[in-house]
Amino acid sequence: MNRPDITRGNPLKYGLIACGDMARTHVMNVATRPDLFQVTAICDINNAQMDELQNLLPPEHPTPKRYSNYKQLLDTGDVEAVIVSTPNTLHLEPVIDSFDAGKHVFCEKPFAVTLDECDQMIAARDRTGLVLQIGLVLRYAKTLQAMANTIAQGQIGDPLMAWCHEFRAPFPIGQGREWRYEKEKSGGAILEKNCHHFDMFEWMLGAKTTCVQGFGGRHVVENGKHLDAMPDVGEFEKLVKQNDILDHAVINLEFDTGAKASLLLCFFAPNNGLPFGVLGSKGRMSTNVNRQLKGFFLHENMRALDYEDDIPSGEFISVSENQMGEDFIVHPGGLGQHLAFYESVRMGTPVFCTAEIGKQSTAVALAVQESIYSGGTLVDVSS
Ligand SMILES: NC(=O)c1ccc[n+]([C@@H]2O[C@H](COP(=O)([O-])OP(=O)(O)OC[C@H]3O[C@@H](n4cnc5c(N)ncnc54)[C@H](O)[C@@H]3O)[C@@H](O)[C@H]2O)c1
Repeated sequence: MNRPDITRGNPLKYGLIACGDMARTHVMNVATRPDLFQVTAICDINNAQMDELQNLLPPEHPTPKRYSNYKQLLDTGDVEAVIVSTPNTLHLEPVIDSFDAGKHVFCEKPFAVTLDECDQMIAARDRTGLVLQIGLVLRYAKTLQAMANTIAQGQIGDPLMAWCHEFRAPFPIGQGREWRYEKEKSGGAILEKNCHHFDMFEWMLGAKTTCVQGFGGRHVVENGKHLDAMPDVGEFEKLVKQNDILDHAVINLEFDTGAKASLLLCFFAPNNGLPFGVLGSKGRMSTNVNRQLKGFFLHENMRALDYEDDIPSGEFISVSENQMGEDFIVHPGGLGQHLAFYESVRMGTPVFCTAEIGKQSTAVALAVQESIYSGGTLVDVSS
């Protein structure tokens, strides 16, 4: 995608609602483009989190105003747009209040923990005509955009199957981050983590999920203790007092084109990247969605394929720094999503990762969780 010149105009004035891990990642990315972005106001219920975030701003950056209540930030802050990075169950009110205060909204994924919440936020966007973009950051990763375009051009024929393996360490703990271990507060591990991947399936396959089935459970992470197989995560027992989320799952999905996909999730296999691929009628593509996402393999002509999962044998399509268009910090697409948001706010460019996409990935994740918690029944996706 060729980006228009976006260096015109004054920096977009961002107000940050919550200053935790993800907000810090946003700040590290937007601080690389002071010509486009300025953080003018920050808010968190925890002062230490605001201190830590503020320390990431370069010395020449104007000092943002600080608030302990986001409503004060909306009332008195010099803010054009907000980034909502509160825990998942706390997106709804800040998003709606921000729209009512006339601010554009960048809302973290998962969009919400229920479809009704998604609808309420979409209604607020439509009522106010302001911009709403969802932080499904991988949509802005240049390698994945190149993959999606290559598939859309028909290079692997009809996309028929897709897979994704998320083999990772348990969720981080400390600094109040234990909310992810409680389903009540996170909406569940599959919603929290895999909304990205359900969206990638639909995006790459050019299809909508119709039906899901999943099996999952807890092998490693149990209430108040962790089992031997879990990597050493320090003071786990002390910090994670309650834990009722899944730590592994096997998930199958069917799409309206007849395509199928499969996702494996495991929380006790750190640092294995995120293998992802699509099989088509004429060839396949695969990549590893980790922090060095620099390209993908294109395996044309299925007959000639030397099938090796770990060592793909196709042509490597490199997506160079130049083609990537921008550097990112922590997440591929981490800066690109803000450049796109800027364009939507300032130039009216249509939002790429819309609230409707955020709602759909939420719908799929909730359907998968319903299937797993009911012992593996088939569940229709109702969005
Ligand atoms: N796009 C991605 O890849 C990605 C990655 C990580 C997290 N996230 C999402 O970002 C959001 C935040 O995750 P995180 O990792 O930053 O969590 P975190 O626990 O590190 O930070 C959450 C912050 O919210 C603050 N907070 C809680 N209630 C608040 C309130 N009422 N007003 C103001 N601040 C409040 C907490 O004090 C904390 O500082 C979640 O929705 C998460 O799913 C997205």
